[in-house]
Amino acid sequence: MKYRRLGKTNLRVSVIGIGTWQFGGEWGKDFSQGEVFSMLARAKELGLNLIDTAECYGDHLSESLIGKAIKQDRASWIIATKFGHKYLGYMNRTEPRTPADVRRQLEDSLRALQTDYIDLYQYHSVRNSEFDDEGLREMLLQAKQAGKIRHIGSSISPNDNVHQVDGATKANVETIQVIYNRLDRKPEQAVFPSCQRQDLGVLARVPLASGFLSGKYKPGAQFKEGDTRHEKKQKEIDTKLREVEQIQRTEVPPGVNMAQWALAWCLQHAAVSCVIPGCKSVEQVESNAAAAELPMVRDDHPQAWQAK
Ligand SMILES: NC(=O)c1ccc[n+]([C@@H]2O[C@H](COP(=O)([O-])OP(=O)(O)OC[C@H]3O[C@@H](n4cnc5c(N)ncnc54)[C@H](OP(=O)(O)O)[C@@H]3O)[C@@H](O)[C@H]2O)c1
Repeated sequence: MKYRRLGKTNLRVSVIGIGTWQFGGEWGKDFSQGEVFSMLARAKELGLNLIDTAECYGDHLSESLIGKAIKQDRASWIIATKFGHKYLGYMNRTEPRTPADVRRQLEDSLRALQTDYIDLYQYHSVRNSEFDDEGLREMLLQAKQAGKIRHIGSSISPNDNVHQVDGATKANVETIQVIYNRLDRKPEQAVFPSCQRQDLGVLARVPLASGFLSGKYKPGAQFKEGDTRHEKKQKEIDTKLREVEQIQRTEVPPGVNMAQWALAWCLQHAAVSCVIPGCKSVEQVESNAAAAELPMVRDDHPQAWQAK
């Protein structure tokens, strides 16, 4: 595994992390505790140390599966979770975001994760008016002073939300999570330069374009009910999959696994600290971890971890 410095947090993160929206049950599969345990145990063996989860991947369900799986070795992991949504049912959330709501959500997340601190607590794609809420900032600082949060981040949406990125330092935000992949390069324009100017860590989310950049789906592919991709328009899916076919033909070197190539592609950008592909099996964890070994993931990347 290779490691990078997560911007000004100075956390040492594996370039490949694990996205766990999947554990909440909105990707056409329910996860048993045993499966999550096996996936995280294998991830640890392979050197992965960053888990991204959220309050609304199930009603704290993903957090709870993770909490049980890692309680014996909590200190080995960097846990990133989020606040700002309340899960009501499949792809249905409300938006509790007052300081009192978030204080409650934080306690619920700590309980589910079976821990007394969260390494990275992220605004979960909130509106700019909520990001600017001074009361919420104050509440988060108090939680930080109390040791319940180590660092504050923002998972932005849309992925050119320059307001939240440019305002990060003022809002005590040290990391940005953003959609970035070979099909969606918008962050390169203004988001990444701002992150670099402020020394913000960058977590590239949806790095496989929801699995499409794995190369295993062809135009016409359909997803079953209960898989979040079932909600997307078929026309949009097919347009993306045609672009993927073109990329596979013209950019992916022969013999290279396309999912691994797609992760390594994201890691080439100087602003990117790590990718957080969502995983559904031990095999996917193993395949994604191996992406770090592709030559595109350079040892001389500006954020490569330097042993002191
Ligand atoms: N607003 C936010 O903050 C927000 C929003 C979205 C996501 N996220 C975070 O970002 C993470 C990643 O995004 P994502 O899960 O939406 O999309 P993604 O990482 O682009 O795609 C994940 C999907 O790709 C497939 N896959 C994974 N590894 C693979 C491999 N090695 N080979 C082939 N297929 C593979 C799996 O689905 P199949 O095998 O079924 O194809 C998996 O469910 C999430 O888990 C979550 O932690 C945050």
